Amino acid sequence: MNTTTSRVWRYFQLLPFIMICRFSDCYDPLDPNGSITVIFDTLKYTHDGYVARVTIQNNYQYRHVEEPGWKLGWTWAKNEVIWSMAGAFAIQQGNCSSFNYQVPHSCKPDPVIVDLMSDAPAQNRSDGCCRGGILSSWAINPSASYSSFKITVGNVEENCTGSKPLNLTLAASGPGYTCGPVMDSSPTVYSVIGGRREEQVLRTWISTCTYSSYVASKTPICCVSLSTFYNPTITSCPSCSCGCRVADPLATSCISEGVFPSNLLDIDLIHCTDHMCPLRVHWHIMNIYVSHWRVKLTVSNFNYGKDYSDWNVLVQHPGFGQPSTAFSFNSTIIPTVGVPEDIALFWGKAFHNTNILKADKGGVGSVTTEILLQKDSSSFTLGNGWGFPRAIYFNGENCRMPLPDTFPMLPNSSLNRRTSNFLFLLMFSFYLSIQDVLCVLNHFSLL
Ligand SMILES: *[C@@H]1O[C@H](CO)[C@@H](O)[C@H](O)[C@H]1NC(C)=O
Ligand SMILES: *[C@@H]1O[C@H](CO)[C@@H](O)[C@H](O)[C@H]1NC(C)=O
Ligand SMILES: *[C@@H]1O[C@H](CO)[C@@H](O)[C@H](O)[C@H]1NC(C)=O
Ligand SMILES: *[C@@H]1O[C@H](CO)[C@@H](O)[C@H](O)[C@H]1NC(C)=O
Ligand SMILES: *[C@@H]1O[C@H](CO)[C@@H](O)[C@H](O)[C@H]1NC(C)=O
Ligand SMILES: *[C@@H]1O[C@H](CO)[C@@H](O)[C@H](O)[C@H]1NC(C)=O
Ligand SMILES: *[C@@H]1O[C@H](CO)[C@@H](O)[C@H](O)[C@H]1NC(C)=O
Repeated sequence: MNTTTSRVWRYFQLLPFIMICRFSDCYDPLDPNGSITVIFDTLKYTHDGYVARVTIQNNYQYRHVEEPGWKLGWTWAKNEVIWSMAGAFAIQQGNCSSFNYQVPHSCKPDPVIVDLMSDAPAQNRSDGCCRGGILSSWAINPSASYSSFKITVGNVEENCTGSKPLNLTLAASGPGYTCGPVMDSSPTVYSVIGGRREEQVLRTWISTCTYSSYVASKTPICCVSLSTFYNPTITSCPSCSCGCRVADPLATSCISEGVFPSNLLDIDLIHCTDHMCPLRVHWHIMNIYVSHWRVKLTVSNFNYGKDYSDWNVLVQHPGFGQPSTAFSFNSTIIPTVGVPEDIALFWGKAFHNTNILKADKGGVGSVTTEILLQKDSSSFTLGNGWGFPRAIYFNGENCRMPLPDTFPMLPNSSLNRRTSNFLFLLMFSFYLSIQDVLCVLNHFSLL
């Protein structure tokens, strides 16, 4: 079977080496336009400054900003102050003692802004605000992929219309984002009168912020395991995918079954496994039909203290070039340019499985779906690991895949080797449709 192993290896060597993104600041080939842009639109000038609308737009297809939401900071170029805000607020007022009559909202030379909650009173709101800093990913819900607030800036230098903010920082549910300098851009155009007239803002400044797991210094958060109907072997996650289990059984990096404490304070505690990942994505090839094939996708949560709400899972697999149906998840195909395999994005259905519950005494939390994919007879095969995903991401984080030489192999144990070698020869030399042979093989192994 060494020849099969080397075929699998050769096949995977051709794949783009996506994991490299973990170690450098390179972009994600599956989401080349992925970024969060921060847009400062000047709406009008005032006697001592200007009024701007600031928009934080998430362009990432499958990376969202979850609780506790975004935090946007910058450094004023001069001695600007924020007179007032709507739709967000500065977390510190700073030293406003030099203002006698009217006290600004914030005098900090380096203000940090956060979103209001959904229960904010009407006088503090603005369009596109008040979602607690949560941004949906672009592919899942573009209408909730941005936040917007209004800011009245004063005390700008005399005879000056204001200077661009410097050193923008974006913390979006933790570190990992790096923002470029704020640059001049063509003024934002928007439509009025039901789309019949276009108006534009006075001035637009833009900064682009990109995420890097390396900057976030995140260890992997998930791993992938595989199984098939034709081989009883389950390929589990690579051990130590997300860290190694400490040798001391009393050290509390994870909790073994049976020693469940009554009060859980540490939200980072996970169920003990060889992979030590908080999440595992399992891909099971269930059935092969004449014109379709069926897969079961299961996401398990090994955390004892953390639910995953509004999760998403991305699967890169050439099979998604054909029509497919996910029965229990919402899904979409993400357009790609220059990536050979198609990518499908899955997320929970409202009121059904948008939340992956944390593990408890009874076991791990999980969500699962069956996926029916149409076969493309020219490419479909069970050989060479074709049926397994090329890459899986959970919430935008790349999951550790098992090595191709550990993938479940086509069966040969139930028949003697000469027969199986003969069958392989037959399949490869005469280009027989492999799945038909397999159904027979599978039948034998079940007997
Ligand atoms: C990326 O953005 C460019 C310019 O906005 C657009 O032409 C291109 O189609 C986008 N690519 C993807 C994969 O969305
Ligand atoms: C506050 O600002 C005033 C005027 O700029 C300055 O005199 C004072 O020292 C500052 N106070 C503190 C605590 O920094
Ligand atoms: C809400 O608006 C009122 C009146 O404009 C203002 O005094 C208050 O500081 C605002 N609250 C926040 C959180 O911005
Ligand atoms: C600002 O402009 C006005 C009129 O152009 C001029 O009289 C004044 O001296 C300028 N002030 C400064 C500080 O440049
Ligand atoms: C902006 O950041 C750079 C590099 O960290 C630093 O050298 C510079 O002093 C900062 N500028 C301001 C105004 O804080
Ligand atoms: C699927 O996702 C879309 C976009 O988020 C949403 O509008 C729709 O309600 C979802 N469908 C279900 C069944 O949750
Ligand atoms: C298939 O045959 C090879 C070589 O004889 C053996 O190492 C391997 O375990 C067999 N595979 C299965 C699934 O039995």
